[in-house]
Amino acid sequence: MIDDLWYKNGVIYCLSVATYMDANGDGIGDFKGLTRRLDYLHGLGVTAIWLMPFQPSPYRDDGYDISDYYGVDPRYGTLGDFVEFTHGCKQRGMRVIIDLVVNHTSDQHPWFKQARTDPNSPYRDWYVWSDKKPAHADQGMVFPGVQKTTWTHDKQAKAWYFHRFYDFQPDLNTANPYVQEEILKIMGFWIQLGVSGFRMDAVPFVIATKGPKAKKPVEQFDMLRTFREFLQWRKGDAIILAEANVRPEDDLHYFGDDGERMHMMFNFHVNQHLFYALAAADTGPLAKALTDTKPRPATAQWGLFLRNHDELDLGRLTKSQRQTVFERFGPDKNMQLYDRGIRRRLAPMLGGDQRRLELAYSLMMTLPGTPVIRYGDEIAMGDDLSLPERRCARTPMQWSTEPHGGFTGSDKPEIPVIDHGAYGFEHVNVAQQRRDPGSMLNWTERIIRMRKEVPEIGWGDFKVIAARDPAVLILRYDWRNNSVLFVHNLDEQPREVSFAVGLPDDAGDTLIDLLGDNHSHAARGRHKLLIEGYGYRWFRVGGLDYLLRRTEVDGGGRSKT
Ligand code: GLC
Ligand code: CA
Repeated sequence: MIDDLWYKNGVIYCLSVATYMDANGDGIGDFKGLTRRLDYLHGLGVTAIWLMPFQPSPYRDDGYDISDYYGVDPRYGTLGDFVEFTHGCKQRGMRVIIDLVVNHTSDQHPWFKQARTDPNSPYRDWYVWSDKKPAHADQGMVFPGVQKTTWTHDKQAKAWYFHRFYDFQPDLNTANPYVQEEILKIMGFWIQLGVSGFRMDAVPFVIATKGPKAKKPVEQFDMLRTFREFLQWRKGDAIILAEANVRPEDDLHYFGDDGERMHMMFNFHVNQHLFYALAAADTGPLAKALTDTKPRPATAQWGLFLRNHDELDLGRLTKSQRQTVFERFGPDKNMQLYDRGIRRRLAPMLGGDQRRLELAYSLMMTLPGTPVIRYGDEIAMGDDLSLPERRCARTPMQWSTEPHGGFTGSDKPEIPVIDHGAYGFEHVNVAQQRRDPGSMLNWTERIIRMRKEVPEIGWGDFKVIAARDPAVLILRYDWRNNSVLFVHNLDEQPREVSFAVGLPDDAGDTLIDLLGDNHSHAARGRHKLLIEGYGYRWFRVGGLDYLLRRTEVDGGGRSKT
């Protein structure tokens, strides 16, 4: 396959307009301000920006409660400002994907307002109703502990409506063909304004059967094909990145056996096991998670991440694994959320230790897939646990030591900047880290550059190489007559490992260190490596003539040109 599927080898950066820059001092960020920050993102080297919801919204779930799919919230600017933003990205060779939140609307959406007031409105059937309270109304909440039910009585409608998430987010009846048509129209609209695709919110719930009788929801996978076909017809290089926290045996239902469904999915399964590996210095379960999520069509890709804007969901780990992660990374009740996860940012979880942060990011960037970075992680931003639920990890970007971290000129920002403690903007900000060659920011920039020069990870086939030490993970990737190999030591103690690269003859005898001078030469086919605590190595197998050796196709042998 020609290797120009952009999402197979890039670096995606996730941000929300509200936390990125408040240009005009009105207390909330906006598109004009964001557009001015594009040179920063371009300098960082990210290839795509995932923009969280910015459409008009009562903002009760940080914009994931949309009241108009075809607009920009006036606090962020206008559609004109949005187009200037996508244009600015295009000028710098960066793509934009935006959230597509169509499992539910806000209860303030005109569709819902009509549906609840008029039983004869065509919009009535756009939502999911029941005359009586369904028997299983107290089941299936996504936010247990905060959300009490999935069915709420509506006085105006004189009926109960279904909401998988908060009660102000009524679920759309996605089985209704008119609703499906509207979803396509929404995609078509934003595609026209310059986006390259969508991060599709809550996909398993979007395609699930809904209703008072749907005790066990069944996914309608054909819908995914419909979305994709429409998108590909309108814009060939647009993609859908699905938020679907599903089990490995369901992965292919989402990708499609022939790659005819979602282009990308977040690898939640690997994410949880990755955190267990970091917590326990035990990479066995992570290696298994990688192997379990390995099968996928050639055009499909995993999105690899550490932390995102939600809680770190540990629901798929065993009880004792989960306990280990809680103890190590979120011991206080206040750090935990929804009985299953941790709501902190990465840096405080790892004690603000740059060695551990580098290890975690190096590992994430070298796992099979395309890395997705959370804004602020590049400067090791912290969290504000006094804010409710997931808000604690959604504080404004810290640009400088100026008031409010340079985020706003207003006295009262809508979202408070972290201004005290070790993670306060006076200690953690972009301006200072720019000047410091050893900063997290400059490290991140360098590692992104290197990651882009190793397309073997995004495109190639991987193999877990036996290290005979659970604290050490070794991965080899092969692609077009080249191989790369990564070694990570998750323990704080130094480790000595001995391993064979596993390529025929003497092909694996030389390992060139891409980040330092620790090259390795095998003795009788085995490499012996002393690797410091939390150390990591990025190796090219063979010499640095790899670009001369790269073939046009896999299994092509030595290139003649
Ligand atoms: C997804 C989002 C989350 C949001 C929810 C409801 O899980 O990631 O932030 O609250 O959907 O839209
Ligand atoms: Ca503003």
